[in-house]
Amino acid sequence: MSRPVVLIAEELSPATVEVLGSDVEVQHVDGTDRPALLEAVAEADALLVRSATKVDAEVFAAARRLTVVARAGVGLDNVDVPAATSAGAMVINAPTSNIVSAAELAVALILASLRNIGRADASMKAGKWERKALNGTELLDKTVGVVGFGRIGQLVAERLRPFGVHLLAYDPYVSQTRAAELGARVVDLPELMASADVLTVHMPRTPETIGLIGAEELALAKPSLHVVNAARGGLVDEEALYAALSEGRIAGAALDVYSAEPPSTSETAKKLLELDTVTLTPHLGASTVEAQEKAGVAVAKSVRLALAGELVPDA
Ligand code: MLT
Repeated sequence: MSRPVVLIAEELSPATVEVLGSDVEVQHVDGTDRPALLEAVAEADALLVRSATKVDAEVFAAARRLTVVARAGVGLDNVDVPAATSAGAMVINAPTSNIVSAAELAVALILASLRNIGRADASMKAGKWERKALNGTELLDKTVGVVGFGRIGQLVAERLRPFGVHLLAYDPYVSQTRAAELGARVVDLPELMASADVLTVHMPRTPETIGLIGAEELALAKPSLHVVNAARGGLVDEEALYAALSEGRIAGAALDVYSAEPPSTSETAKKLLELDTVTLTPHLGASTVEAQEKAGVAVAKSVRLALAGELVPDA
């Protein structure tokens, strides 16, 4: 009997393949190469992706025997779940695999934005020595607004607390008691916007959260505000952010995610690349050895169970 085919469409840790084991045949394809993906998925029993492969109705139509789609990360952003359900395919993810990595990147971006690390690095490599132009700001005594106080937002708060910041949290689903345990005070979004020197977003991308930080919210901001988004592209409206930064109404921003990725493919996101006050990274939140190992192992275990027709427990 032939072995089930597991198609890996993005870079995953070597541990993923080890855990999949020899009972399956592992094939690789570049998930961003659409024709290649559609051809390869035809014979696949399982498909493994991260965030760059669009798993939509066209993919399910091309697949002849796909049983399971696994996303090695938090959320299911690039997988069309209703299309999977119609095609009879199960969809799984690894919801806690990279939360620490995402939180650590948010903290890194906050500090990078306050201290102009990206600009300083580029300037040094261009042969300059610009100490005056790259004056920064301390985190001590500043107000940090965490928008989205779920698993990642709470890890960020925990890590920022020792810096001596005043923590505010906006999250319709968090209690004042839980926030207080982490030294944060729950406020509404307008109050957070008007008080924060640093704002970091940690929410999933849903119809309710797209553009959550938009022109109206940014109009309330102090000129000292730094906006950080290491969560999902589009939570901070890029047009509004560009306007606030280019008009000097806020101090800076650091972004890891974009409404379109890479941002050079979108007219709106592209404009942010021109600004000196923006620090940019290419969707690296989950890109650590540890997170990739955890995500790969988690989805590989679930895929094995799914292919064996066994129950896949919630991670
Ligand atoms: C995630 O959703 O966990 C990440 O965005 C996955 C990735 O880095 O590809």
